[in-house]
Amino acid sequence: MLAENVEGNFFVDSSCINCGACRHYAPEVFAGTGTSSFVKKQPQGETEEFITKQALLACPTASIGMIEKLDLTSARNAFPLSMATDIYLNGFNHRNSYGAHSYFIQSETGNWLVDSPRFVRDLVKKFEEMGGLDYIFLTHRDDVSEAHRYAQHFGAKRIIHQLESDAQKDAEIILEGDKVHQISLGEIHFTPGHTQGHLVLLWDTRYLFTGDHFAWIPSLHQFGSFRNACWYSWEKQIESVQRMEAFHDVEAVFPWHGKWGMVDKQQFPHIIRKSVEWMHSVK
Ligand SMILES: [Fe+2]
Repeated sequence: MLAENVEGNFFVDSSCINCGACRHYAPEVFAGTGTSSFVKKQPQGETEEFITKQALLACPTASIGMIEKLDLTSARNAFPLSMATDIYLNGFNHRNSYGAHSYFIQSETGNWLVDSPRFVRDLVKKFEEMGGLDYIFLTHRDDVSEAHRYAQHFGAKRIIHQLESDAQKDAEIILEGDKVHQISLGEIHFTPGHTQGHLVLLWDTRYLFTGDHFAWIPSLHQFGSFRNACWYSWEKQIESVQRMEAFHDVEAVFPWHGKWGMVDKQQFPHIIRKSVEWMHSVK
């Protein structure tokens, strides 16, 4: 148990990898030391206790514990969590993807998994009840997790860029080049920077799934990219972010790492200009 935890039922132990997922679910309860998360305040009331339980279930390393074992059934059954119309947050983050988030899109034109959570029986059952999976969109090589198991179970088509495809060699749809691809209501854009063949998914012009390209950064109170986790080219990253200025109708950003964030109507181009200005200032 980490010394930083405040006294009480919930705690974080030393197996924490500092992915930050718990802080995204329950910022009222968890904070970071810089190398780990810890319980800064024990949950007060039903709502805080519920989101703390969800953070516990999302934690990729089972690093959140309880002294008195509380029932997790209702928190477990709440996944996938509704985030917006037909958009869900899956929970059950995978250690192999460094604890990143993944999403489910329910659509009459085919259901999508955006990046991959752990292959968990309860989640698989929920996806079955919600109509199964038709496509599994993989933003980049880091985030494939257990996509192959979901693809096999549901007969879903995995989509990845050719420059990332050594991470998922048997993917059913391998995109090439830098052109925009339209698949049902999804518009797939090539966004090199974090990695060479990174992709983002713009769904129904409103919901932007950004992988490790772009996220809300709570410490800065703004959107941006991660300079210290840019594996290919920061210059390309800035260019790729700048091109998103054309996404006028974005209402929400759903990243893989980092925090999801809502966007005021028609404000996304302004957000992009501000982010790019900040990114140019980061060496
Ligand atoms: Fe990544």
